[in-house]
Amino acid sequence: MNKNQLIENVVEGGTNILVYKSKKSKKGPGLKDDFPFYNPAMELNRDLSILICQWLIDNSKKKLNILDGLAASGIRGLRIANEVCGEFNIIVNDWNPKAYDLAKKNIKNLNLKNIVAFNRNLNSLLSDNKYDYIDIDPFGSPVYFIDSAIRSICNEGIIACTATDTAALCGTYPKVCLRRYGAISYHSIVMKEIGLRILLGLICREAGKYDKSIKPLVCYCTDHYFRIYVQILNGTGRANDSMKNFKIIKSKNLFSPKNENIDIGPLWTGKLENKKIITKLITMLFERKLNTKKELWKLLDLLEEEADAPNFFYTTDKMASLLKKSPPKMEVVFERLKQKGYIVYRTHFNSTGFKTNATISEIEKVYK
Ligand SMILES: C[S@@+](CC[C@H](N)C(=O)[O-])C[C@H]1O[C@@H](n2cnc3c(N)ncnc32)[C@H](O)[C@@H]1O
Repeated sequence: MNKNQLIENVVEGGTNILVYKSKKSKKGPGLKDDFPFYNPAMELNRDLSILICQWLIDNSKKKLNILDGLAASGIRGLRIANEVCGEFNIIVNDWNPKAYDLAKKNIKNLNLKNIVAFNRNLNSLLSDNKYDYIDIDPFGSPVYFIDSAIRSICNEGIIACTATDTAALCGTYPKVCLRRYGAISYHSIVMKEIGLRILLGLICREAGKYDKSIKPLVCYCTDHYFRIYVQILNGTGRANDSMKNFKIIKSKNLFSPKNENIDIGPLWTGKLENKKIITKLITMLFERKLNTKKELWKLLDLLEEEADAPNFFYTTDKMASLLKKSPPKMEVVFERLKQKGYIVYRTHFNSTGFKTNATISEIEKVYK
């Protein structure tokens, strides 16, 4: 018997569901095969979507339509149906018939009334209906679904998407990035922030076509994926404002040891995080029982701090190696910059990274 055919129970949050449990590791991306896919490494990603859906429902006056567009085992949508309170309907959709059967089985087992399973191509489903929250969690890039998601999303709705094509977005495969995202990537210390901004830039541009704007709520990256929660707002004025943040930037303005000045992007140069919402999510997190609570709190705490920071970051170790000094402790760099009157922020992009309003020459002085 194929080991993938073993159906097992998993418990995430407050939900117990059946999955084809092929991947045991808590790390890294999953592998494609015929069986609906369950990746334990994405539990934190799913936990955060529970909080975001709860926030959206709490802040809405109408009954919402939610779509888990690439559902696989259905775990994300099933968890939303089971763990989120309030007025909403949810669809879990996957074009794989085995995923569809499994989702139906789980809906029955959990005796859920607010959820249905669909077995459709996501793009055609998005063409038929409007949704207030659309989750796009593909193998690889989400680009193939962005145009139809923008057309389908209701005003003030949220598009949530994952991208696991980090090598393309971070500049290992620049031609792939150019084809998929229409942008020039940059393999460097700040490549993850550039990759995240290229993905947001694409969403901003696609929204602009339909006189819609984007408002990033929570955007982050891990070692193996990018994740974006972005609110879409209708209106030409707002769309014009949003497009002002869609720009090409120069590599010489970034922290990079490379002595060159090339064009990067176009990419999103606006805010990546909405501090008010992240603060609220942290409060909501403490009220919930989630397996990844500690890691999720660490991430949200960093994102909350980073929300006010300028774009792009430095790293203490790279700075030290460029200046041929031994790397000082993070606290020392932070303290010295603060003493000089600058603001310094930690960043989730890099454990030795920091963002600041100090110029590079001012930063160099604190190493001397
Ligand atoms: C990475 S998995 C989804 C994982 C899931 N969201 C979770 O949290 O466990 C991607 C899924 O997308 C489905 N898929 C890919 N392209 C699709 C399309 N055009 N329409 C519908 N489903 C599709 C695949 O069958 C696969 O099950």
